[in-house]
Amino acid sequence: MTKNNKIKIFITGGAGFIGTNFILYMMKKYPDYQIINFDSLTYAGNLNNLKSIENNPKYKFIKGDICNPGEVKPAMTGCDWIVHFAAESHVDRSIMDPDTFVKTNILGTNVLLRVAKELEIKRFHHISTDEVFGELGNEGKFTEKTPYDPRSPYSASKAAADHLVRVYFHTFGLPITISNCSNNYGPYQFPEKFIPLFASNLIENQKVPLYGEGLNIRDWIHVDDHSSALDLILHKGKIGETYCVGGDAEKTNLEITNLILKYFKKGDEMIEKVADRAGHDFRYAIDFSKIKKELGWSPKVNFEKGLAETLKWYQDNQDWWKKIKSGEYKKYYEEQYKNRS
Ligand code: NAD
Ligand code: DAU
Repeated sequence: MTKNNKIKIFITGGAGFIGTNFILYMMKKYPDYQIINFDSLTYAGNLNNLKSIENNPKYKFIKGDICNPGEVKPAMTGCDWIVHFAAESHVDRSIMDPDTFVKTNILGTNVLLRVAKELEIKRFHHISTDEVFGELGNEGKFTEKTPYDPRSPYSASKAAADHLVRVYFHTFGLPITISNCSNNYGPYQFPEKFIPLFASNLIENQKVPLYGEGLNIRDWIHVDDHSSALDLILHKGKIGETYCVGGDAEKTNLEITNLILKYFKKGDEMIEKVADRAGHDFRYAIDFSKIKKELGWSPKVNFEKGLAETLKWYQDNQDWWKKIKSGEYKKYYEEQYKNRS
């Protein structure tokens, strides 16, 4: 293994929202670490996010598909740690096209695990989601011991991937860790997701499509808090363990919509209540006491402040999302919208 200050990390899906923010966080905090960003650049991958580091000798981008072992193996060779973000990540898309989610999220993860085992990788960290636990009613929170009960093609594919990662630990001794995190927000999030979609629509003076009555609840975490949790798990987490990561900020979608409307000085006539998402999970909430107690982590970013900074970012970086919204995404959005109104 390379010396501790020369750790080489193989990051999958680094051109997506959380992967981008994690790479920027790690390169700033650990300038000696080497980072390989392995990403197939699907509709959600965007190398413009990483322009500021593209010439840094410690950073290398490799275009490749996690489902293709012939591309994965040479790229992963010589790396110490794997941090696996790559996935199809949008629930609505999974309802329209489950097959792509099964392929990337399950089969792709299996390819990575098999190659990591062959190469005797020292750590495989798998990024998962709180959605694998299903939905909550008004009471209770998810913990590491909550039984799996996924309810969308997306969450079922992530659940299957989590099981495979644990199989590689128990059966083959691969040194793994897993984190299950709640809803992230922050810069560089693809504008099909709730917060960037609503922000960018309002900037363009378009209505925002709120599903149902907007009473579903999510727990929101700033993406930098997610990165700091991953940093700790990688450096201090116990092999074979799972950590639940949450933002301690439960909000209904209507509450967030009202905060976004207020920020952009718009009235509630800009809300368009549209047909609900099929199988829409009512509530997610995370009990993060394990990572707090064992690794000393807790979220630092106050939700209202983090949201205002995030909205400002979308206001200041209109070129970033306008390019996306006028491209392939436009077709998808029109299709979604047609089916919902
Ligand atoms: P994203 O959709 O923004 O990015 C996904 C990235 O993976 C893209 O860059 C894409 O090009 C890449 N990718 C997709 N298929 C690939 C393949 N076959 N080979 C290589 N690269 C591929 O997703 P995100 O929101 O950044 O989520 C990252 C991870 O975090 C996912 O595993 C997701 O399930 C998990 N997660 C997300 C959230 C959230 O709120 N966004 C919360 C908890 C967990
Ligand atoms: O909980 C973690 C998960 O959070 C991650 O695993 C997923 O990758 C990530 O996409 C996110 O899933 P959600 O389905 O919760 O996120 P999304 O931004 O799509 O929706 C958030 C809430 O807002 C949800 O209750 C649905 C609602 N919504 C969403 C969209 C896109 C609307 O009301 N209108 C919309 O147009």
